[in-house]
Amino acid sequence: MGIQLSERVQAVPPSGIRKFFELAEERDDVISLGVGEPDFATPWRARTAAVDSLERGQTSYTANRGMRELREAIGEHVDAEYDLEYDPDEEILVTAGASEAVDLAFRAFVNPGDTVAVAEPAYVSYAPGVTFAGGEVLPVPTYERDEFRLTREALEASGAADAEVLVMCFPNNPTGATMELEHLAPVAEFAREHDLTVISDEIYAALQYEHEHTSIATLPGMASRTVVVNGFSKAYAMTGLRLGYVMGPAEAITGMNRIHQYGMLSAPTTAQHAALEALEHCDDAVDEMTAAYDRRRQFLLARFEELGIECFRAKGAFYAFPEVPTEQTGDEFAEDLLEAEGVAVVPGSVFGSGGEGHLRVSYATGMDELREATDRIERFLD
Ligand SMILES: Cc1ncc(COP(=O)(O)O)c(C=O)c1O
Repeated sequence: MGIQLSERVQAVPPSGIRKFFELAEERDDVISLGVGEPDFATPWRARTAAVDSLERGQTSYTANRGMRELREAIGEHVDAEYDLEYDPDEEILVTAGASEAVDLAFRAFVNPGDTVAVAEPAYVSYAPGVTFAGGEVLPVPTYERDEFRLTREALEASGAADAEVLVMCFPNNPTGATMELEHLAPVAEFAREHDLTVISDEIYAALQYEHEHTSIATLPGMASRTVVVNGFSKAYAMTGLRLGYVMGPAEAITGMNRIHQYGMLSAPTTAQHAALEALEHCDDAVDEMTAAYDRRRQFLLARFEELGIECFRAKGAFYAFPEVPTEQTGDEFAEDLLEAEGVAVVPGSVFGSGGEGHLRVSYATGMDELREATDRIERFLD
């Protein structure tokens, strides 16, 4: 007998997003509003810092937890931006992308059979990550009537009181939903009452358009039960450099580092130099990219309104999450639109419960493409 895959690996299906990329790759006139990554290059200064570090021969491992200077810079940054206070020595871990941070959190906090409540629609990696860690996913739906915010009512109704861990992500992929302090407070109260560990993925924190970001970790009693995941991929357009970080109580970070130090040793050194430069000198570039996303967001929302496509006003990340404007399912609509007009969007169903009947439309795409894509959608609907 050949190699036998583990039950956990066999239990996880291939990504639903991939299927659409594969279809889109079969033709050459496709405009993709499907991808979840910036269309900008990494800010010039950060790229230069990466090249410099290579030229200086800085090609060895760093400390397991990441370069001290970078951890210090991260600590100062999150304090200034989000009022989060973490000790760079014990409470911050630099990872290979936010993806590694999320995976470490599942493996560090989830025992086999534990229940992990996941606010859905959700980023596609959470449920598989829980399965790989041996946990059981408990979907907690968010609803359009609440602008896709997580509510205490939904937590109660789905049985999250018995869960061990809660995973949430605001601003959200795929909905673009955001949560203000008043919305986070009842969720924090629920987590305290039911002793939940919270994994808060805040990778889109810098990309918010009508208000400031609030982290659930800043609410009373939450810092001791929350790990906050963030990274450089989205705000600094650094997806390919693979750099993220996670912050939380010392024992949580030490536990996560125990896995990281064996599995990863340290995050990529070149990328850590780029990230340090990005934090210290690239605020202007982030502001410019954020302003560009906001212009695209407003254009897209206005255009959907003109076309009679219902879409709540998402205020974060770079996704719009409109309703399917025909009688079809999201899958059928996305396939037909791709076939007829060469526009790729992702059906909401791939992001779990509450996603059906919606489409994820990424505006991390140039304005010309957005214009052309919405013109094609108009033709498709005629
Ligand atoms: C919510 C969310 N978390 C994490 C990630 C992964 O980020 P990274 O490139 O830092 O691994 C993504 C990427 O799309 C995301 O949307």
